[in-house]
Amino acid sequence: MYIISPSILSCDFSKLGVQVEETGKTAAKYIHIDVMDGAFVPNITIGPCVIASLRSHSDLVFDTHLMINEPIRYINEFRKAGADIITVHAEACADLEATLKEIRACGAKVGLSIKPKTDPETIRAYLPLCDMILIMTVEPGFGGQSFIYEAVENIKKVKAMIEEAGLNIPIEVDGGITVDTIGVAAKAGAEIFVAGSAVYKKADIAKAVSDLLDSAMQAGNN
Ligand code: DX5
Ligand code: ZN
Repeated sequence: MYIISPSILSCDFSKLGVQVEETGKTAAKYIHIDVMDGAFVPNITIGPCVIASLRSHSDLVFDTHLMINEPIRYINEFRKAGADIITVHAEACADLEATLKEIRACGAKVGLSIKPKTDPETIRAYLPLCDMILIMTVEPGFGGQSFIYEAVENIKKVKAMIEEAGLNIPIEVDGGITVDTIGVAAKAGAEIFVAGSAVYKKADIAKAVSDLLDSAMQAGNN
């Protein structure tokens, strides 16, 4: 089963509650919430208080992508605000094992992400602590960028590593996902697809989500 996780980064933030409610009427099961600190990435977005406000507007899975340095400092706050999945970057954690265990301990699903140029081998040892791996297919920081085809190798490598370890962990991809690129990611082994511009910059977001799902299924036979 493929899952689309629309990224609110491409929403009109003055209408965020309404747009999140509308997303709940589409085929999307997750909603992707990009948290940026202006240090790990060159952009600043939102924090736990916005997530807490959105929680009463939606039953979607809150797929929370923390692009912040040392996220271990804020794991409990994001969980209390309503995050269901908390994803951290391998590049942003001095003690990655402790960070992943902190997410597990607070009751959220554990996500681990790597940037396009990070060697997937760096996360091999941490796979048993994870519920999802997020492969970035753009440099994190901004919506609306072009899909980096070289990062497809990372999807394949992580997929192989997961299988070698005898684990069953879904791979999510994030960045530049459109009806034209989603198939490549699906074929490489991704099952969860973040899409910002390809959903919220379209007039009909329900159709945009269905079109993405159709393209993924056509390519991946899933
Ligand atoms: C980028 C964010 C993405 C972004 C995706 O750092 O992590 O989630 O919103 O936007 P699109 O789908 O427009 O590339
Ligand atoms: Zn993201």
